[in-house]
Amino acid sequence: MDTNGYSTWLEIDLGAVQNNVHQLQQITGCEVMTVVKANGYGHGAIPIAQAAVKAGSSWCGVGRLEEALALRQAGLDCEILVLGYTPPAGILEAISQNISVTVYDQELGEEYAQLAQHAHKCLRTHVKIDTGMGRLGVMSQSALEFIRWLSRLKGLQIEGIFTHFARADEPQASLTTQQIERFSGVLDQLRSESLCPPIIHAANSAAAIYFHGAYFNMVRAGIAVYGLHPSSEALLPPGFLPALTWKARLTSLKTFPPGHGISYGSIYTTEKAERIGTIPVGYADGFRRVLQQQVLLHEQRASVVGRVCMDQCALQLDEIPQARIGDEVVLLGQQGTERISAEELGKRWGTVNYEVVCGLANRLPRLYY
Ligand SMILES: Cc1ncc(COP(=O)(O)O)c(C=O)c1O
Repeated sequence: MDTNGYSTWLEIDLGAVQNNVHQLQQITGCEVMTVVKANGYGHGAIPIAQAAVKAGSSWCGVGRLEEALALRQAGLDCEILVLGYTPPAGILEAISQNISVTVYDQELGEEYAQLAQHAHKCLRTHVKIDTGMGRLGVMSQSALEFIRWLSRLKGLQIEGIFTHFARADEPQASLTTQQIERFSGVLDQLRSESLCPPIIHAANSAAAIYFHGAYFNMVRAGIAVYGLHPSSEALLPPGFLPALTWKARLTSLKTFPPGHGISYGSIYTTEKAERIGTIPVGYADGFRRVLQQQVLLHEQRASVVGRVCMDQCALQLDEIPQARIGDEVVLLGQQGTERISAEELGKRWGTVNYEVVCGLANRLPRLYY
């Protein structure tokens, strides 16, 4: 991989992504829908989808219609489901691009059906059931009635049904088991009237690993495909590999005299003569403007000092005298035996690993191997 032309970049291991899809297939014995919304959790939706499809994942899940259309435009011919809201104005395009959409509301469902009928076409749909997430979805108590009604509309094909878990990343919480029971109850009702759609899915990554009862015939995995833990309570088993490394180059090295301010606000001031380096990474790249951060250089941890700027920050390098301009710095990932994980960054930033990788800016070059 030629990284010489870049000052900061992401390296993404597509072999790790394929390995992780295989792990999920082996654990669950089910079809895997790879969730590539939010630019593939920051990893790049198109290469991730291509790798996942190669590994045998025949579905990709996205949050919005635009994300689905971008996959089609890139030539992906896998099945695609829009997991969120699709505006009626986009329905004809969804039909023409063979994209399945989520239905969870009567008025919207009716509008979708009318649009499809007028075009003499059929829209592929998955019905979403709210079994406890408290977000999108028909409430489980109303699901039978809703699907009875929906199945009478012309222009819609109901090919799937799904639900989403609120607390699968807390395997001790009883809500997931309750949600599985509610969802199974809905499926039983539908089966008794021969109304059950063929594709049934519920599990996100955490449920795919911790709740066997949630498999049905497909799982929808995001975070595990990227090799990241669903939570500190729902760790991935051994065998999954993180796919992403964030690197930068040391761009400046100076020895400042004692009492010199470093970066905006001079909130860090040198106590003695100090060797300070800079890297061309800042909050506009998704590296948060918080204090007490660390990066890896020469397989050692170096402290970020002073405020993180829009596209630069400073490092205290007294303990790394061999550092030179151009040296490789790792912000996220492994260098030698040291590792900074997305989970560690999440903890530092008061958030979760999901937000860390989804926040990686578009301007960061993404290099795939
Ligand atoms: C509806 C739906 N299904 C599946 C997923 C994938 O979840 P995870 O990344 O925890 O596997 C998400 C992610 O937010 C989602 O919103």
